[in-house]
Amino acid sequence: AWSGPLPAPVRMLPESIDPADLPDGEQEPDLLPLGLFQDTMTPINLDLTGRDPHLLVLGDPGCGKSTVLRGVIESLVERYTPDELVVAVYDVRRTTAGACPEAFLGGHATSTSLATGLSASIAEELQRRSDALAAGETVEGPRIVLVVDDYDILSSGGTGALGAIIPFLSSARDLRFNVVLARPVAGASRALYDQLLQALRDTGATGLIMDGDRGEGALIGGVRAEHLRAGRGWWVRRGRKPRLVQVGDFASTGE
Ligand SMILES: Nc1ncnc2c1ncn2[C@@H]1O[C@H](COP(=O)(O)OP(=O)(O)OP(=O)(O)O)[C@@H](O)[C@H]1O
Ligand SMILES: [Mg+2]
Repeated sequence: AWSGPLPAPVRMLPESIDPADLPDGEQEPDLLPLGLFQDTMTPINLDLTGRDPHLLVLGDPGCGKSTVLRGVIESLVERYTPDELVVAVYDVRRTTAGACPEAFLGGHATSTSLATGLSASIAEELQRRSDALAAGETVEGPRIVLVVDDYDILSSGGTGALGAIIPFLSSARDLRFNVVLARPVAGASRALYDQLLQALRDTGATGLIMDGDRGEGALIGGVRAEHLRAGRGWWVRRGRKPRLVQVGDFASTGE
């Protein structure tokens, strides 16, 4: 029998990660630990103030998109005060806003027309901030995070529901504003030409590509979807090798 060193066992991601096992706001005050990477078993740290100005979650029904969005909201709320953060939830199916305490909820759009109005008022605030920046003043006001679930439904009637914020996507960091958006993989190859999705990709949005059909073609950073179990996806950061991740099961806590 071989008595020499054994190869390190291959570590496999658990099928479900309890968010309570991820670093909390005290251990990780600036980043949002949404789950674990398969290769290193270290936390996925969403960095909305730096490397991940926006997040685009693509995945077919039941893959865990709304769970990711709830995870973003819960982690933000744990790390900011209502003076420092406003969350605007676009949630036509009402599966996501429940994760956001009233004190942080700057708007809850449950229809396309409400969404258009909400976007217009956010755009007004972003314009005010842009003007302040242009005048060399400091930007005042809380971080504004738009959490958009089921964007396919929201945008099915045509453009517009989020059109007003497109001009501000590229200066997200200076304006202290982020978009976290989810839609299915099915139809994504065409939908990615939608102005908002195109602008998100152009401004360096990080992608999370969850369950879907590889026949949709390259989605973000040349990565195609594949069939994956719930909560699993490819984390695609601009300029980096895609990495397999498992998102925390944020559905089991919260509400
Ligand atoms: N991170 C996760 N870990 C383990 N199970 C998960 C995870 N995310 C989702 N699931 C399982 O998948 C189910 C669907 O999750 P969720 O509602 O987030 O998916 P979805 O992509 O938003 O679905 P839909 O397309 O219908 O909106 C959950 O009820 C849960 O059973
Ligand atoms: Mg959902």
